[in-house]
Amino acid sequence: MRPDPKRTQLEYEYKAALRDAVSGAGEVALAHAYELGRVAAAGGVGVVDLVSIHDTAMREVLGETAPPEAIGQFVSEALSPFEMTHRGFREAHERLEAAYKELEAFSYSVSHDLRAPLRTISAFTQALADDLRFQLDDKSRDHLRRVLAAAARMSDLIDALLELSQITRTQLGRHRVDLSAMAQGIIEDLRRRDVTRKLSADIAPELIVEADARLLRIALENLLGNAWKFTANVDHPKVTVGEQQIEGERVFFVRDNGAGFDMSYADRLFTPFQRLHATRDYAGTGIGLATVRRIIERHGGRIWAEAAPGEGATFFFTIPA
Ligand SMILES: Nc1ncnc2c1ncn2[C@@H]1O[C@H](COP(=O)(O)OP(=O)(O)OP(=O)(O)O)[C@@H](O)[C@H]1O
Ligand SMILES: [Mg+2]
Repeated sequence: MRPDPKRTQLEYEYKAALRDAVSGAGEVALAHAYELGRVAAAGGVGVVDLVSIHDTAMREVLGETAPPEAIGQFVSEALSPFEMTHRGFREAHERLEAAYKELEAFSYSVSHDLRAPLRTISAFTQALADDLRFQLDDKSRDHLRRVLAAAARMSDLIDALLELSQITRTQLGRHRVDLSAMAQGIIEDLRRRDVTRKLSADIAPELIVEADARLLRIALENLLGNAWKFTANVDHPKVTVGEQQIEGERVFFVRDNGAGFDMSYADRLFTPFQRLHATRDYAGTGIGLATVRRIIERHGGRIWAEAAPGEGATFFFTIPA
């Protein structure tokens, strides 16, 4: 196996820092070694590699003559690779956490502040349409209708974004949830909303989990809402909700026989605003699955999909106890 050039470079610089520390450049060399460890850890160098680099350097450099206090300080203060990795990760984590909080607060206030001008646009466009209803020709009326439709769509996008950002902010409560009953209720709601549609549902009984009921409902509403939407154009629309064991793990699934999609785009679906179907064929904002993923991940679970164009889609997820 050829040596990794990045690792070789790190070893070289680490030894140089150790030598500098030993020859009297204490603080500066310590800071430099610490920085090397932090950058290496952040760049993906594992703890085992760091330990071995540290060991090799110690053995080689200590073989040379060195004042014992310098070595002692070097070892005890900063050059334990465990310490470096730990400190590096902690720092990176704290920075990430702060940036994340800021971003959440930002998107929350952006969503709120976007509503006011949007309401003004809708209200005055509607007023204009009313005032001029006898003067406008069809073309102008259609223009105003489009302005209103775009404002309504933007309002939906804001709602969805707000919901997404709230999911990260809310406290997670865990209680016993009957996923079967929940799915049944959601499907009945969907049927009530559009009585012209038929959808047969096969829901496994007794799907009991420990989860946050409110969040899990949002996730299921999105998954079942998608199944409902993407089966609109098939002859015998059907959704199945069930569970199976995969490599000893309890995996839940929501399966439909609708439009499906090409698996090569499967990863993208869970990112906000990514859609594989045109809005004119199937309406939507493209935030639903991003929300579902965030909910599942907040429970410590995973979500993935299997599908084929024209053959339906299955969404799998886990909710570890
Ligand atoms: N059951 C499904 N069958 C086929 N395609 C699906 C299914 N579920 C999701 N998709 C694809 O993934 C995309 C993203 O889904 P997602 O739920 O995030 O957005 P959406 O349903 O388009 O909008 P909304 O934000 O209203 O949920 C969809 O636009 C569609 O292309
Ligand atoms: Mg959706």
